[in-house]
Amino acid sequence: AVPGARSARAVPAAMSVFVTRRIPAEGLQVLSQASGCRVQQWDSEEPVPRAELLAGVAGARGLLCLLSDRIDREVLDAAGPDLKVISTMSVGFDHLALDEIKKRGIRVGYTPDVLTDATAELSVALLLSTCRRLPEAAKQVKSGGWTTWKPLWMCGYGLSDSTVGIIGLGRIGQAVARRLKPFGVRKFLYTGSGPKPESAAEFGAEFVPLTRLAEESDFVVVTCALTPATQGMCNKDFFGRMKKTSVFVNTSRGAVVNQEDLYNALAHGQIAAAGLDVTTPEPLPTDHPLLSLKNCVILPHIGSATYATRSTMAVLAANNLLAGLRGEPMPQELKL
Ligand code: NDP
Ligand code: DGY
Repeated sequence: AVPGARSARAVPAAMSVFVTRRIPAEGLQVLSQASGCRVQQWDSEEPVPRAELLAGVAGARGLLCLLSDRIDREVLDAAGPDLKVISTMSVGFDHLALDEIKKRGIRVGYTPDVLTDATAELSVALLLSTCRRLPEAAKQVKSGGWTTWKPLWMCGYGLSDSTVGIIGLGRIGQAVARRLKPFGVRKFLYTGSGPKPESAAEFGAEFVPLTRLAEESDFVVVTCALTPATQGMCNKDFFGRMKKTSVFVNTSRGAVVNQEDLYNALAHGQIAAAGLDVTTPEPLPTDHPLLSLKNCVILPHIGSATYATRSTMAVLAANNLLAGLRGEPMPQELKL
């Protein structure tokens, strides 16, 4: 009897699933209409408290979770040996303890591709908002700061004839490059675990080490996965190499960035501006130093937030879960 929670019912172990949040109705419908599938759900807009997650998952065969749920050994132990499938309503899977999950023979579903366009679109929106100072300028209109047209006022940096560096030329990275190219970008650079000539050809993008990407890019866009190798990758050294006129955008995961180093780079004019859709922690406390900076635009992790995309993600996550429970190939299974 916890507010927001649907009461746990005795469900047959064969198809009992725990859903950790209120998700788009279309996704829940897929589960509730599946024969033999009994759904227990944390039916709230807010994250499931840890204790409720541990209790809710106990004995479940399937778990549908979100990126805000840390699925670690404690959760897997609480679930017990019946847990066979974890389906995350996200493409990122850094919140899942994959080694432990693999050891237990649990299958994992995720939601690549269906959110690529929405996230790339948001990345471009954030980049333009940041380099052309849209939130700052709009605030001036409301506060009376707009007194007349001034030649030197509210100037920013444009994409025309620029060099754009993409960290992680994956699905979203490529979709961002595809959208930025028509703005007149002169050169694309990218970095990752190795060159990807087939992906890069469309943009004539050059594979470079991270240091060169930092030094030469007018815009850096981070679209890589969070891994041990990428954690804290954008740090003091990285920002120190960037040009004073360059703009940094991150729509991947907050932990790829050392935020203290980013704050110092922004506050001391080492780089021009930053746009972040992701932070550490999330939500970012409202008194966080980054929020005091005019040259930092921060959004609340809304990369995939279109109605259609979220609905499609929920349906895909539900179908992944059902396929896993039935022992069938999942529409999108993570290879462990
Ligand atoms: P992909 O797997 O297609 O791309 C991930 C990219 O990360 C790959 O190109 C990979 O490059 C790169 N990468 C891995 N290791 C490194 C490294 N050491 N240095 C640089 N790049 C590296 O995933 P998606 O494009 O679909 O998604 C990317 C990420 O975006 C997700 O993992 C998620 O965290 C985030 N995301 C955020 C959203 C938001 O709302 N802001 C929405 C959706 C996703 P390589 O192939 O060379 O290894
Ligand atoms: C993901 O899917 O990993 C995003 O961060 C949210 O859509």
